Amino acid sequence: MCGIVGYIGNKKACPILLAGLTRLEYRGYDSAGVSTIEKNGLSLMKNKGRVKNLYDLDGIDKLEGTIGIAHTRWATHGKPSNENSHPHQDNSKRISVVHNGIIENYSELRGLLESNGYHFYSQTDTEVIPNLIHYYFSKNTEDNSVMGFLRAVRDACLDLKGSFAIEVITDYFPDNMIVVRKDSPLVIGTCDDEKYISSDIPAILSFTRDFYLLNDFEFVLLSRTSARFFDSQLNEFQKNTDVIEWNSSAAEKDGFEDFMLKEIFEQPNAVRETIGSRISNNLTCDIDELNFSKEDLKKINKIYIIACGTAMHAGLSGKNAIEKLCRIPTEVDIASEFRYRDPIVDNNTLCIFISQSGETADTIAALKLAKSKGATTIAISNVIGSSITREADFTIYTHAGPEIAVASTKAYTSQVILINILAIYFAETLESASCEQLKDLKSEILSLPKKIEETLECKEQIFNFAKKVYQEKDMFFLGRGIDETVAKEGSLKLKEISYIHSESYAAGELKHGPIALIENGVTVVGIMTDEKLTPKTISNIQEVITRGAKTLIITNQVIDYNSFNEVIKIPNTSPFVSPILSVIPLQLLAYYISKEKGLDVDKPRNLAKSVTVE
Ligand code: G6P
Repeated sequence: MCGIVGYIGNKKACPILLAGLTRLEYRGYDSAGVSTIEKNGLSLMKNKGRVKNLYDLDGIDKLEGTIGIAHTRWATHGKPSNENSHPHQDNSKRISVVHNGIIENYSELRGLLESNGYHFYSQTDTEVIPNLIHYYFSKNTEDNSVMGFLRAVRDACLDLKGSFAIEVITDYFPDNMIVVRKDSPLVIGTCDDEKYISSDIPAILSFTRDFYLLNDFEFVLLSRTSARFFDSQLNEFQKNTDVIEWNSSAAEKDGFEDFMLKEIFEQPNAVRETIGSRISNNLTCDIDELNFSKEDLKKINKIYIIACGTAMHAGLSGKNAIEKLCRIPTEVDIASEFRYRDPIVDNNTLCIFISQSGETADTIAALKLAKSKGATTIAISNVIGSSITREADFTIYTHAGPEIAVASTKAYTSQVILINILAIYFAETLESASCEQLKDLKSEILSLPKKIEETLECKEQIFNFAKKVYQEKDMFFLGRGIDETVAKEGSLKLKEISYIHSESYAAGELKHGPIALIENGVTVVGIMTDEKLTPKTISNIQEVITRGAKTLIITNQVIDYNSFNEVIKIPNTSPFVSPILSVIPLQLLAYYISKEKGLDVDKPRNLAKSVTVE
């Protein structure tokens, strides 16, 4: 949720930290702060509100320190306020900490510290951490070296229940920083005499491509020239760096007004990258990361696709493809439900986890549960080295490039493509679908980047429609079959960034209740890409027109345009992959409505890009 940045090197830390926070703001943006090691002790500057407010703080431009930590917050414990902003310090103000995650036993630890004379000034769970470190460091009077301080950080972390990624600085050791994580992302970028720390790769990608990807409970003692790694027994070990190949300009706006618009327009390329060499021009399909034999797959009698939000909607198109092509019963589950509903999972179950960030707390917990019950697990993620990729038996990357806007767009289309390719791979291995059908689908997939480009040409038409409807209070999204999955995603996009209430419904279900809400002028969006289902959906749309609804239709079918207020024609394709095209006008609709309303498209209220809390 929250964003963390750190710097240790020879340059002034503060400008680097503020630039990093700005790039990380999508992780949370209700308050922000920095702490640096200055000649006369630790500085602490923090404020409620956006990162840009930090630039106005008195004295922030005078900070000279070359080691510092910074944080942008998405509130969990304690409302957004100056006191609750990070960094937090111990009572002696000699230790500063930033933290991402949730300390579940913080009130117990707070009680323990209070009974030892410590006071608390915020409502946060985080404030226990610097005090607990101080408590252990001052208790162990025999070792006041940096290793003794590392031991105190380790002791404090072993007391914490929940999730955390933390950075610790102290003026006891003004040339060091300590970082550690558990169930919350943290990476260290390294180059020459500098180290950059962040909860997310894009924030520091312009400085280096060489990263240490941390695992849980790896304690890192950083100096300008070294990164020393210790396990929780404080045994030192060696760790190699990974090279991240993302282009840093891919994480910038590249002339687009917002990241979301840029990412919508990146979809032809993102999908091209996802397809990569998995489907070749001679229509062979291979997924290098997997090695399932026919026997392995024959044993699988049930598949779960588990995810949250947009990734779950991508999972719905996966269910369609897997059930139709492989004839294996497939359920799509919301991760936060799956983990608590005692799902029927055994050695013959395959669980596929989809997560753009790979850090969604509920998805990670669901993955751990599925593994403990003996399931085979596959992670589909966009972020190399992210937590789900390290937990799962197999990982397939979408390679869509960094997605910064909170509302997911190119990650969704890449996930839909990838899960269709996975279904083809399974079907070929199992010989469960005809070669002809699979060949047609593969050539459709190869033609999609071009068709996405054509679909994006509807931009102007959608912009004009958005101008007509942006002040509305309610909208409905209808579809049948695969189109219903896109209705769900279109409705979510609208809610997320334009704050208009919307409902998505299976078109045939509308008459069983929700049609009571249809009245004069309500906008109903209909999606029709399946020849067999289109006449049925048209009948349902007629029912709302009769009751006064205004209609926007997204279709690749031959229909009577005059029956509807606006029709967006998209290129023809197989219904298996039609979400990749039909979702685009809906992404643009949400985008332009949000712009017309003057909202912050990339950072919608109350949301965060990566939900690392339960
Ligand atoms: C958050 C975001 C959504 C996203 C969901 C799942 O709620 O606001 O846009 O779809 O998390 O994220 P993931 O990284 O697991 O795909």
